[in-house]
Amino acid sequence: MKVAVFSSKPYDKESFRHYEVPELTLQYFEVPLNVATAHYAQGFEAVSAFVNDELTEATLEILVNGGCKIVALRCAGFNNVDLQAAETLGIKIVRVPAYSPYAVAEHTIGLMLALSRKLYKSYNRVREGNFALNGLLGFDFFGKTVGIIGAGKIGLLVAERMKAFGCHILVYDPYLCKTCKEQGFEQVPLDQLYEESHIISLHCPLTKDTHGLVNQASIEKMHDGVMIINTGRGALIHTKALINALKTRKIGYVGLDVYEEEGPLFFEDHSNDIILDDNFERLMTFPNVLVTGHQAYFTQEALAEIAKTTIENLLAFKRSEALKNEVSLHNIK
Ligand code: NAI
Repeated sequence: MKVAVFSSKPYDKESFRHYEVPELTLQYFEVPLNVATAHYAQGFEAVSAFVNDELTEATLEILVNGGCKIVALRCAGFNNVDLQAAETLGIKIVRVPAYSPYAVAEHTIGLMLALSRKLYKSYNRVREGNFALNGLLGFDFFGKTVGIIGAGKIGLLVAERMKAFGCHILVYDPYLCKTCKEQGFEQVPLDQLYEESHIISLHCPLTKDTHGLVNQASIEKMHDGVMIINTGRGALIHTKALINALKTRKIGYVGLDVYEEEGPLFFEDHSNDIILDDNFERLMTFPNVLVTGHQAYFTQEALAEIAKTTIENLLAFKRSEALKNEVSLHNIK
């Protein structure tokens, strides 16, 4: 079976190399998958796509007309796929539900620590021979309240790690968190989490319910000087509202690994370009904002797992076996 692998980087090829099998022929395309590039997959029975690929109805239609029967996402989130269109067109969607929740959880803690202790500033200062501590004053995590939105695999790992720092953990999830009580985390209503947390970390999927979850109204409910961390999906935060709250100092710290309009920017080198996204550039001017370019997942272990599971998903389809990692309108919560 021929597989067109979109948005592929040299590190993706390298990780797939260890899991390739004769039944699958992988052809790599560096371009992202969208309505303008989908025709590259003409004659391919399968496609592999990544987080910012645009699997809209129009893209899926081109894929299906070109002979494609399955899209294997190399990520956990599937907010970039029109599942209704996939169902109507009869194309299967599979994903990698968990490749390394540890990678994302550890990066989340890294953002929190870097912000609270201003490590990104000290790194530059010390390299320039500036050992002054003015402006580097941090705060202890010990005794603080941390609010975790989304008590899934990643959220609970972050909660566990922050508990080890001596934090009180509040969790919000619309579904009952079965392990929270025994782990010492308090499941609370969302407003209580907003009101009581010194640090808020987002780990829920991007859905129509969570789109713009952090907005002007929710920010108003939060502690003055709150730290907001988003390693989930960019559109969980309304960027303009975030910028306004940074300007008034309502928000004290922001750590982002994802950004609402990251598609045209992330995963590429734009160091010689003029970046036209004024909201992104405004964010970059704040001394208390730290942004990484969707790298939370990016560990050796995670890349290996992504390659392994993607190959397994495609092989299962090829062999007409059950697709245990299928996402459809019927099995998402
Ligand atoms: P998961 O499926 O294990 O957990 C998600 C949790 O969110 C579930 O407990 C679910 O009940 C909860 N949830 C659903 N709707 C909610 C709502 N309206 N409000 C609050 N919680 C809600 O997913 P996992 O593996 O923990 O990943 C979480 C998210 O992290 C993914 O959806 C993805 O967007 C993002 N992610 C980011 C990566 C990165 O590199 N930055 C890498 C991997 C995932």
